[in-house]
Amino acid sequence: MPAATEKTMRQYVATKKGGPFQVVNGPYPIPGPDEICIRNRAVALNALDLKSLHHGMMVQSYPEVFGIDTAGVVEVVGANVTEFKAGDAVMSSAGLGGRKGAFQDVTTVPAHFASRKPATWSFAQACSAPICYLTASAAITKGLNTPLPHLQPRKPLSLAREDSSSEYLQERHLRSKSLGGLALALANPPPPPPLNSILVVGGSSGVGASAIQLLRHALPGATIISTNSPSHNKRLAALGASVCVDRNQPMAKVLAAVKAASPAQRGVDAILDAVGAAGEDTQLFGTLNAEGPKLYTNVFTGKEIAAPEGVEATKVFAHMMFVTPDPEGASAMVRLADLVDEGKYKLPLEIEVVGTGLDEIGAGLEKLKKGVSGAKLVVAL
Ligand SMILES: NC(=O)c1ccc[n+]([C@@H]2O[C@H](COP(=O)([O-])OP(=O)(O)OC[C@H]3O[C@@H](n4cnc5c(N)ncnc54)[C@H](OP(=O)(O)O)[C@@H]3O)[C@@H](O)[C@H]2O)c1
Repeated sequence: MPAATEKTMRQYVATKKGGPFQVVNGPYPIPGPDEICIRNRAVALNALDLKSLHHGMMVQSYPEVFGIDTAGVVEVVGANVTEFKAGDAVMSSAGLGGRKGAFQDVTTVPAHFASRKPATWSFAQACSAPICYLTASAAITKGLNTPLPHLQPRKPLSLAREDSSSEYLQERHLRSKSLGGLALALANPPPPPPLNSILVVGGSSGVGASAIQLLRHALPGATIISTNSPSHNKRLAALGASVCVDRNQPMAKVLAAVKAASPAQRGVDAILDAVGAAGEDTQLFGTLNAEGPKLYTNVFTGKEIAAPEGVEATKVFAHMMFVTPDPEGASAMVRLADLVDEGKYKLPLEIEVVGTGLDEIGAGLEKLKKGVSGAKLVVAL
């Protein structure tokens, strides 16, 4: 990684597991050739920030800068970057690839982690989108093996191909690895028939509400069922949910309602579990149609979930979209702003700005810890 200049900037660091946080001066970054440096104007607070703080999830060492979602203004670009220039307003995922997260004045990311900020979104709105969108995209494309029409198609890869070139083998290995070893039929021709019915568990969460709208565009005729609290029904119907089932009922009633809403009342082809709910109650697998493809994809929340035999299970992470140098992943963030402009992607959650300045992040995380429904907490910078 390139050296830093002597110029400094402020960073909001967790000094150790469990905190406290502290504002310190850190080195102003120099971007690598394919990176951009973003002057953060707003950062979103996510469950992962709490898991990093309290459980050390994804933390290599302390002190550490958390934060996985940002929106701001490009300040410096690397030598190879053509998509952005200084002064561009962008939104981006952050905090991976050895770089520190979003909770600092200036964050460095690979250019393909970022998208231009739609003109209709404020910085506070824009920072709430990247991780939800990327995670939902990974669940749909990698977990449910369903292409998203706005992304460039994945390179065809056929197991039937008698090809042992190192490029082919390396790509197959990467795809399999990116699925935690639980590869679906990603490499198997012919492509599976489109899914007819999907249950989105936790449809009102940021990931779930992103998944509902992306699924609606990918599978216009499909039955999309969401489990959520009823206060979110109207919002989720507007995003494309066919039916919303009250998740606060006893599980037997949830199962019956999902089955009743599914085609021919036989159950759903696939479950997209946005909140790791099957880790708490495996009865959820009972919503799958016994005669269907029986797909289950779990947005990884930290819990390992064992699926029953016969169910094709995968776990997904937001950054699986970037694991291979595949056109599908490379186009994911770039295309997000276009999707917004075309009216095909709406903010999945309401925005609540909980403060202004790095110092406010800790209090915002405390608020997130107490539980938030249908809203993304944001700190303006
Ligand atoms: N692996 C990754 O790359 C990745 C990336 C992003 C997020 N995540 C994880 O995904 C999870 C969701 O994140 P998020 O930011 O989308 O969450 P969020 O927006 O904070 O969602 C919270 C909502 O989830 C719903 N919910 C909770 N438990 C539920 C259950 N058992 N059944 C149905 N709905 C339930 C509740 O909805 P109601 O208010 O309707 O009851 C709650 O309001 C978190 O655990 C997060 O850490 C993982």
